[in-house]
This record gives sequence, C-alpha cells and structure tokens, in this order.
Amino acid sequence: MNYIKKIASKFWEDGYVILESFFDSELMDNYNSKILDHYGVNPNWEHNNEFISKSAVEVIPWFPYREGKPYFDEIDKHKVFNDITNEILQDNWENLYCMMMFSKAGSKGQAWHQDCPPENPLKYNLNRLVYTHDITDETGGEIVIMPEAHKAGILPVGKPHEDIEGQIVYKPKKGTVIFLHGHCFHRVMPVKKDRISSNFRAVPQGTPEDITDICVYRNMRYKFSTEEVIEERI
Ligand SMILES: [Fe+2]
Repeated sequence: MNYIKKIASKFWEDGYVILESFFDSELMDNYNSKILDHYGVNPNWEHNNEFISKSAVEVIPWFPYREGKPYFDEIDKHKVFNDITNEILQDNWENLYCMMMFSKAGSKGQAWHQDCPPENPLKYNLNRLVYTHDITDETGGEIVIMPEAHKAGILPVGKPHEDIEGQIVYKPKKGTVIFLHGHCFHRVMPVKKDRISSNFRAVPQGTPEDITDICVYRNMRYKFSTEEVIEERI
C-alpha cells in the first residue's frame, strides 16, 4: 500500500490521522503572523484589540477566503495535502471553507462535540486542522479525541467537558496536520495562552453547504445560524 492509501486507511480505522512536520516551520511562522495581524494581536505585546480583550466568545473565527484574502494557498492548494483528502473523501470532494480560530488566554476551550449530527453516516465534514504554533502544557488548548467514535453514533449525554474513558490528549507541534472526521467526538482543553488553530474544512461530493450548522454537544444540539439550542439532551 502506498503512503497516501495508508494514511487514508488509518483515518477510516480511527476517525482521524495525525501527520507531524507536514508543513515547514518557516511557512507556519509566516502564516501565524498573518493570522495574528488579522486579529490585531501580537504575542509580544499585550492585547491591543478592544474586541478581543472584551469578548466573552471562546473561539473567534475568521474566514479569510470569504473576504477575498486567499493568504493561505500553500496549504489550501498543497498537492499531497489534497491527494490525501482525495483518498479519504474520494472523487469530487469540495472545499467547504478555510476557518481560522483564535482563543484568548483564559478561555474555556471547546466542550465535547460532533461537528454535525451523526444520524446519517454518509453526511459529514472533514476537518483538516493545521497548527501554526506548538501546543504545549504552557499554552493549554490540547485537542482531545475519542478514537473510532466516528463509528459510534451519537455522542453520549453527559457533562460537557468531562473525561471519557479511552480519550487521547494531543499536543500538536507547529506544522502538524490532523485529518479529523466531523462525527468523531472531540474537544479542546482550557486555553492558558492565546491560541490559534486553522481548519481547511472539506466535504464529500453532494454534502449540503450548511452541514456544520448544527453541532452536537453532550447536553444539547446547537444551531449556529439562528443561535439557538434546538434540543436539550438529558
Ligand atoms: Fe469541532
């Protein structure tokens, strides 16, 4: 089996696959500063962006391509990155969007969730997470994944952030890529220092554009477009 096929088969076995040092350090530094510039923060200064310092939002997203700012083509159009995607999603998959995520120091991270409802196993999104800086004990914001949960149906009801037996905690280094199935349970640990991650989301052919509008948490289903809890889970 060739390299690409092995990666895809690992993905389908576990619900995710992690590739370290996939992108080079210089490119990551460059992209990291572009992202920080957008948010108006700099790691060497205190926050100077009023919105960010006042915001209670845990994760602040930015969709650069929707604003006509295609600054990240060396990831977006990277041959091997897209060859792996092609092997996972097969023909005529589509880019959903490129989303940058900023979390302030002291924010809660993300509770356990599935990016979209798992009832139909053929309707899902693929996260392609790229880390432009190291995640460490000092930064916090580790990603926690439940292996094989993309085959487990719905996320069990429970406390939103509580450990689940069998979970694995990862601290991705700069240049790491994680391909993660949207139905696979995942969460982000509390953030101790300003944290950036990026997601070059893709979907199989024929997936509705609003596939990630409804997110499944352990205590609710939440609809982003209308900002409402559409189901309490107890
Ligand atoms: Fe997610």
